[in-house]
Amino acid sequence: MRSIIDDQMVIVIDHPLITHKLTQIRKKETGTNEFRKIVNEIGGLMVYEITRDLELEDVKIETPVASMIARQITGEKLVICPILRAGLGMVDGILQMLPSARVGHIGLYRDEATLKPVEYFAKFPNKMDERLVIIVDPMLATGGSAVNAIDMVKKRNARNIKFVCLVAAPEGVKELRENHPDVPVYIAALDEKLNEKGYIIPGLGDCGDRIFGTK
Ligand code: PRP
Ligand code: URA
Repeated sequence: MRSIIDDQMVIVIDHPLITHKLTQIRKKETGTNEFRKIVNEIGGLMVYEITRDLELEDVKIETPVASMIARQITGEKLVICPILRAGLGMVDGILQMLPSARVGHIGLYRDEATLKPVEYFAKFPNKMDERLVIIVDPMLATGGSAVNAIDMVKKRNARNIKFVCLVAAPEGVKELRENHPDVPVYIAALDEKLNEKGYIIPGLGDCGDRIFGTK
């Protein structure tokens, strides 16, 4: 199940399983172990919708009883690019569904005072221009990190890009749509707003800290 807002480029995947799991990680009493597990599970569930338009090609195969023209995914292996740190929390869940995917890493943190992203690491596979590039980060707040991450993969000639997050603020969605209108955005929940410190309300708190048990 999915609902589409905007010009079909913002997709809220409001499947009951995803919504239920999201409620568990929103609760402040949910501990690191459970939080980490559920973030991965939601990442895995979102894969079905994100990969809905993957291209298929014909392939001739033999079943035990007949030959047939079957269908298989074509093209270069896709690449999952988590934005460090919190994006790492979704990678294993996604890889369970897409075990052959490549993984790129985008090192960004949000300066606490300015809320602007600061770049500190980047590593990607080759042929970025031929792959579907899926950038993952559980939180889309001001949108600064997501816009910067997409800039980074576009600099490496990526052309087919999707952005995936768990919880988004309307401010972040707007920023992303204005800067990268060609990139579809997949969201598990669209929340109400940002607070004065740039946290999503109601949100789930600091996702990186909750995944890694820091702070
Ligand atoms: C969080 C989150 C996003 C970013 C979102 O990371 O994982 O990357 O903030 O905020 P924005 O939309 O306003 O840019 P953070 O900077 O806290 O780094 P961390 O994951 O290393 O803790
Ligand atoms: N980053 C987070 O981890 N949580 C928020 O609410 C906003 C940015």
